[in-house]
Amino acid sequence: MTEKLLRAARQARKNAYAPYSQFQVGAAVLTKDGRIFSGCNVENSTYGLTLCAERVAIFKAISEGYRQLIRVCIVAESDKFTPPCGACRQIIWEFCGDVPILMANLKGERKTVSCAELLPLPFE
Ligand code: THU
Repeated sequence: MTEKLLRAARQARKNAYAPYSQFQVGAAVLTKDGRIFSGCNVENSTYGLTLCAERVAIFKAISEGYRQLIRVCIVAESDKFTPPCGACRQIIWEFCGDVPILMANLKGERKTVSCAELLPLPFE
């Protein structure tokens, strides 16, 4: 399932709309019953309206009626891994809880952290 999730995130990344940062990100979430929803970052000329790939993937799952999300995967082209931004951490906590977050780059390197590691003392 890990490979499938990574593939979905890599594929979604190709659709990233990132003309301002040139930083393309893909994300995928796994539902409890095995479905995968993916997303890419979608930027805007106002910058502040930009949506990260993680939030797009999670909101797609929620809007399709899937609320039990058990894994998150993020793919970007970087030497270091791309952890979710603060806003996405809070959104991941809201809908996924303390799930594993798999971060990968295009070289195939990967690292998994838990949401609680990234967001200690979450607001809830
Ligand atoms: N971005 C994501 O989509 N996910 C992350 O985890 C970090 C940042 C996007 C937002 C923006 O379009 C670009 O990366 C540069 O910050």
